[in-house]
Amino acid sequence: MSAYEQDYPDHTQSPDYQPGDEPRCNLSANETFHDVLETRLKRRDVLVGGLATAIGALFAGTALNTVARVATAQAASGGLVGFQPVPVSAADTVVVPKGYKVQVLVPWGTPISGAMPAFAASNSGADQAQQMGMHHDGMHFFPIEGSATDGLLVMNHEYVEPRFLHAARYAGKELKSSEVLLENGKRADDEVLKEMNGHGISVVRVKRGTDGAWAVVSDPHNRRVTALTPMEISGPVRGTAHLVTKYSPDGTRTRGTLNNCAHGVTPWNTYLAAEENWAGYFRNGDQQDQKPNLPREQARYGVRAGGMSRYGWELAEGGADAYVRFDASSTGDSAAQDYRNEPNGFGWVVEIDPFDPGEAPVKRTHLGRFAHEGVVFAPAVAGKPVVAYAGDDARFEYIYKFVSARLYDPATASGALLDEGTLYAARFNADGSGEWLALAPGQNGLTPENGFADLADILVNTRLAADKAGATKMDRPEWGAVDPRTGAVYFTLTNNSRRTEDQVDPANPRAKSQYGHIIRWSEARGDHAATSFQWDIFVLGGDEQAGRGPNGQKLTADNIFACPDGLWFDSEARLWIQTDIGESAQNKGDMAVMGNNQMLCADPATGEMRRFLTGPVGQEITGITGTPDGRTIFVNVQHPGATTAPKDWAAGKPVSHWPDGGSAIPRSATLVISREDGGVVGS
Ligand code: FEO
Ligand code: CA
Ligand code: CA
Repeated sequence: MSAYEQDYPDHTQSPDYQPGDEPRCNLSANETFHDVLETRLKRRDVLVGGLATAIGALFAGTALNTVARVATAQAASGGLVGFQPVPVSAADTVVVPKGYKVQVLVPWGTPISGAMPAFAASNSGADQAQQMGMHHDGMHFFPIEGSATDGLLVMNHEYVEPRFLHAARYAGKELKSSEVLLENGKRADDEVLKEMNGHGISVVRVKRGTDGAWAVVSDPHNRRVTALTPMEISGPVRGTAHLVTKYSPDGTRTRGTLNNCAHGVTPWNTYLAAEENWAGYFRNGDQQDQKPNLPREQARYGVRAGGMSRYGWELAEGGADAYVRFDASSTGDSAAQDYRNEPNGFGWVVEIDPFDPGEAPVKRTHLGRFAHEGVVFAPAVAGKPVVAYAGDDARFEYIYKFVSARLYDPATASGALLDEGTLYAARFNADGSGEWLALAPGQNGLTPENGFADLADILVNTRLAADKAGATKMDRPEWGAVDPRTGAVYFTLTNNSRRTEDQVDPANPRAKSQYGHIIRWSEARGDHAATSFQWDIFVLGGDEQAGRGPNGQKLTADNIFACPDGLWFDSEARLWIQTDIGESAQNKGDMAVMGNNQMLCADPATGEMRRFLTGPVGQEITGITGTPDGRTIFVNVQHPGATTAPKDWAAGKPVSHWPDGGSAIPRSATLVISREDGGVVGS
């Protein structure tokens, strides 16, 4: 009998009990949540409890030591988190702590370029290409000449909500959040164009005026990258048969980027947009023996077999090539005559130089192909490889890292550094150690005999390669962040409703994980290029019973949360945590106590964690960046009102009217947050 049962013979008395939980019946030798938590927290308690020096020898050479030492030093100085927490909220508004102010900036439809078309429900597809896209997600503020009041705000637009995008035509109809209208089985061309232009990335110059308010500046840097923008493909997959299409017979180019979730910022100051749930934008009707017959590079990612793609772009009435390519069926005599390989042009990380609007975006294939949530770089050090971490946000998928072959030189660094190196997948061992498994030809079983012809084949089939290598299946890896003081790497694991008791492992310690958790690790010898690490669980999401803070303490009314997603360290090492409770769960059942999605701020050194912000109805909080002086932060509110029921939409009653109020349809938008006294945000 495990310690869990000994401590809690009546399972309803366990601190982890949830109403409706069944008593424990899996008595396998697998470590349980309780065992793992106790072990991991005991070790950390010792490390941060003032005995770090005494027991340092036990962990000599492990970077966890660094975490512990920093923790002790910082605890003495009183911590980084200085604001009064806000309570949970179910209101259709944004709430921030006393002493803070919020401005709404660049909502969906804000004109930024070209003819600067004003936002209106009747905007055309062409108008949308000159306006902010929909559903703001990851973003970064690129200062102009180091300014804290003038810079390029670059952000992703993850997806579109057709009801709101086509409100002029879709009003009064009983439609779900994702639904599109077909006429005689076809999609209206301009609706397809507007949806494609609502996706992608916006680059927009924003500046703070003398009155303290931020505004869009008309500027030659302002541009939209959309689902139609021509792009180069670089790295090992460029020019291979995997990428041959009617549009690019030599396999070097594609059009557009899709479902850009989180982002990355390279050490050479360019922007990376990750392609997350791209697979659903395609359909493939190929069959053999009357059964779907999709190649593995589509089947393993969830390309739709038959039926209509997510928005049915392949059904565009005019049959334009740029639209119908989302049908990946084999219709021609060869790959150069159809779009059977079009899905292979997606699932990558896309590099964009916001300061060079004429340059085509580049898809960097050596970072792997999966449901890329985002990318986060370790601090670049001259003479060392460049290292970037990435999560594959799907149930039971993996965490990856890329280590460049060439060494970082600030004078010459460019995206070419991302084209040669090694991609690894993470294995989290039960004893708190971990390994990086190289996804490279001849390593970890990745041989032609096992179905991996070469590096390009491994990269196109990254998930299958990580399966073969034996990586650890995680609870939906979302954003990562690197502590600027300790180098420790943090990743959110947002939830996993499908993990069974049998599938629980130390790094993913809860079955049917509805609240999610945050894992962290430190690389061996503090070297981000190392192939081993020591890991730990940082926090467990949950209510006041199930949740645990950084020191193992129970969460309280000031910091209960669920479904961590966005994650960011500011320059003083405050950790900002954003939540994305899904639309079907928000404010219901166990999630009712969480209220609307929110943002918290933690000091990993002291374990302090407080709720900083709550958002309006139906949204997720995602995307965070700041000015170099730390006195302004930008935060995105995505998909307010998405929880509107079809009947309520038909009745003209979306559940949110944020941010415009009145009877307006809701719009994703950016929040500009600062302190009334001009101080550093969060302090
Ligand atoms: Fe787009 Fe995984 O959130
Ligand atoms: Ca996300
Ligand atoms: Ca999410």
